[in-house]
Amino acid sequence: MDEREASVADIDGEFTAQVLPGGQTFAASAALSLLEAALLDGVPMPNSCRNGTCRACASRLHAGSIRYRIEWPGLSLDEKEEGLILPCVACAVSDVVIEPVTLG
Ligand code: FES
Repeated sequence: MDEREASVADIDGEFTAQVLPGGQTFAASAALSLLEAALLDGVPMPNSCRNGTCRACASRLHAGSIRYRIEWPGLSLDEKEEGLILPCVACAVSDVVIEPVTLG
């Protein structure tokens, strides 16, 4: 399998997401945003704009990897390096563990 095939396989993947602190899990299809997948499975997550700008859904990525649907999610480089993500525009590319946080 070459690199391109690997990335296509990732996009079609089915993963498991866990939400801290409660530890609820939901099926995180790579085709859905983490927020869409959570709400589809009945797992509540904070949200508002659902397009990567308001930051209401901000979460810490404790484990796993994501890719973004949009080029410029509303996080600073520092916030990204701290492990913060915006689940409304982030799709899982592996099993993930996330924890909603409140950004100032
Ligand atoms: S819901 Fe607004 S940035 Fe995610």
